[in-house]
Amino acid sequence: MTNIGDPVSRVDGPLKVTGQATYAYEEWGAGDPLYGFIVGATIGKGRVTRIDATRAEKAPGVRLVLTYLNAPEQGRTNDAAPLEYWSPEPTLNRPDILHYGQPVALVVATTFEQARTATKLVEVEYAVEDGHFDLDARLSEAYAPKSLIFGIPTDTEVGDLDAGLAASTVEVDQVYSTPYDFAHPLELNSCLAVPQGEDLTIYVSTQIVDAARATVATTLKMDPERVRVVCPYVGGAFGSKLHVHSETILAAMAARQLNQAVKVSLTRQQIFDLVGVRPTSRQRVRLGAGGDGSLVAMGHEVTFHANPNVSEFVEPTALGTRALYAAPNRLTSHRLVALDVPRGEDVRAPGEATGVLAMEVAMDELAHELGVDPIELRIQNEPAVDPESGLPFSDRHLVECLREGAEKFGWQHRPTRPATVRDGQWLIGYGVAAAIRAHPQAPMKARVRLEADGSAVVQSDMTDIGTGTYTILTQVAAAALELSLDRVRVELGSSEFPMTFGSGGSWGGAGASVAVQRACKAVLDKLKESNNQIPAEGLEAEGEIGGMWEEPNYGAYSISSYGAHFAEVAVDADTAEIRLRRMLGVFSVGAVLNAKTASSQLIGGMTWGMSMALQEEAVIDMRTGGFANRDFANYLVPVHADIPVVEVVFRDEFDDKANVLGARGLGELGICGSGAAVANAVFNATGVRVRELPITVEKVLPGLPAA
Ligand code: MOS
Repeated sequence: MTNIGDPVSRVDGPLKVTGQATYAYEEWGAGDPLYGFIVGATIGKGRVTRIDATRAEKAPGVRLVLTYLNAPEQGRTNDAAPLEYWSPEPTLNRPDILHYGQPVALVVATTFEQARTATKLVEVEYAVEDGHFDLDARLSEAYAPKSLIFGIPTDTEVGDLDAGLAASTVEVDQVYSTPYDFAHPLELNSCLAVPQGEDLTIYVSTQIVDAARATVATTLKMDPERVRVVCPYVGGAFGSKLHVHSETILAAMAARQLNQAVKVSLTRQQIFDLVGVRPTSRQRVRLGAGGDGSLVAMGHEVTFHANPNVSEFVEPTALGTRALYAAPNRLTSHRLVALDVPRGEDVRAPGEATGVLAMEVAMDELAHELGVDPIELRIQNEPAVDPESGLPFSDRHLVECLREGAEKFGWQHRPTRPATVRDGQWLIGYGVAAAIRAHPQAPMKARVRLEADGSAVVQSDMTDIGTGTYTILTQVAAAALELSLDRVRVELGSSEFPMTFGSGGSWGGAGASVAVQRACKAVLDKLKESNNQIPAEGLEAEGEIGGMWEEPNYGAYSISSYGAHFAEVAVDADTAEIRLRRMLGVFSVGAVLNAKTASSQLIGGMTWGMSMALQEEAVIDMRTGGFANRDFANYLVPVHADIPVVEVVFRDEFDDKANVLGARGLGELGICGSGAAVANAVFNATGVRVRELPITVEKVLPGLPAA
């Protein structure tokens, strides 16, 4: 018998390693699909003044060239959209160019190579306008958005920050800047669109099946009932597949026009243009403390980029700050700078990833200024209730995470003064940071059918984006129905199954599990009613969980997941080469649904935190407004040699305020704060504080202590 929480290996693992799990671009539909290749604008701002596809249309194998001149009229709004991911994505709908790489044509041909070759024959002329591509040059134009996602307030204020700072003995006032970062999942954003009369089947790599359906239907002005979305497997997403993008809209448009199946994938390079980017941010953090280390004032003012001409993306960067530490005087704010660069979009732990990073580096600076241990500083400022809302915490064990982590990591060996411990050529440093990530709850439905042979089938339009959803839901159903794992089959990722908000926001695992467990309970009730006899056609029932807006506990408690990150780095005393030696995370997430997949999620997030601190940075070419380092040779992500040992520890918990399974979200927790632990370790090793991320050799080298 398996239990919820057991470290069950992925039930879909064998399918994946034997190549039997099909991803969107590997689907074939009814027959030979055509291939589309997107032509992107080579300017950042302006207008297409002439576009001529005549030569391209005559190229071998070419069946269609779509441009704004012959693309169908498209919907621009969806009044029923519960979140922005359900909004239309009008594409090729105007001559105006709103950012570099914006699609100006789709070439469709019999083969991929024919389509790609013919793109070079599409003639485009532009009227170029001066675009705004430089955030720092436009900071004075920053404006306040109406709200953050979910209607979270843009600004908060408690007490009087300036008065608090004036009354403080020790103050930190610094600006931290984070670059443009991308999600870049292994599986490229791709789609196969298959028309059947008035119907359209969309095989697409997406995080939210229902949102993909709504986006396609509203953009193409179709009845949503006529759009079927199929997405059994997703090769990573990290927010970049919450929306479908031009690949999907253009495949659908071309398929309908040609009445034939069309496949479109973005290339790795096109992702830099056509999938949104983690906004670049400038974050002013002001902390004031009394001489005893108690925080008197906390300010976190965030400015980041958006391209509101495409869509205004407002991430909750300072959300973590609002709940993290006690301080009587507080201020948080979010401002946007409109730029003509690719739009901001969700990238793992949108906002909180960069926000907790800045705040937790600032806390390290404060500890250094006060001359106290950074763990003790955090523990000293642990709030009894949520410091802004005044609500009790549903369950919070940040202090325990810090203490347990310190013990396991050997924190007592940390150099107490920076740049004082060497291991041969290497300067050694330790860093710590807190992790916090909100636990949102989104609507989820699931259906369970007991077959006549006593086995069970679970169905939901929930997605498994590589996180382990198939496995977790198999475990939950098996436990609820008292079946062995091989007697439960989980089917996901089809718009024909009950609707969910999919995988995103760290709401997927816990929410879908509750829905499945409730469906199991309901089907067991039916079984009892039928005297434990399963009829030949089986017994079926649905279960669901509502959104947090209908959940009373969200008004009564402050519900977040927590943790403590620890990092040890070695910095070459001569070259400033930075090597991560080990990381440890101790996490407080309520009940764990599968110890193996949960741990993998957190290792992934911590790895990403390391690369936010040391590696990742997409750089704008200020001449065009496009990204200059548009491949993995130039946009650095960690390889195995960069990540030696990452250990994850869960506390044994159950959060009865979160849901009946006691589980909170954890998918995005690992990236929140982990970069700060690495950055703080670099400071501890070298005495060099880099506030403009990522921390690279050329920024550290000038400050290294003399040999
Ligand atoms: Mo997450 S950035 O909501 O996939």
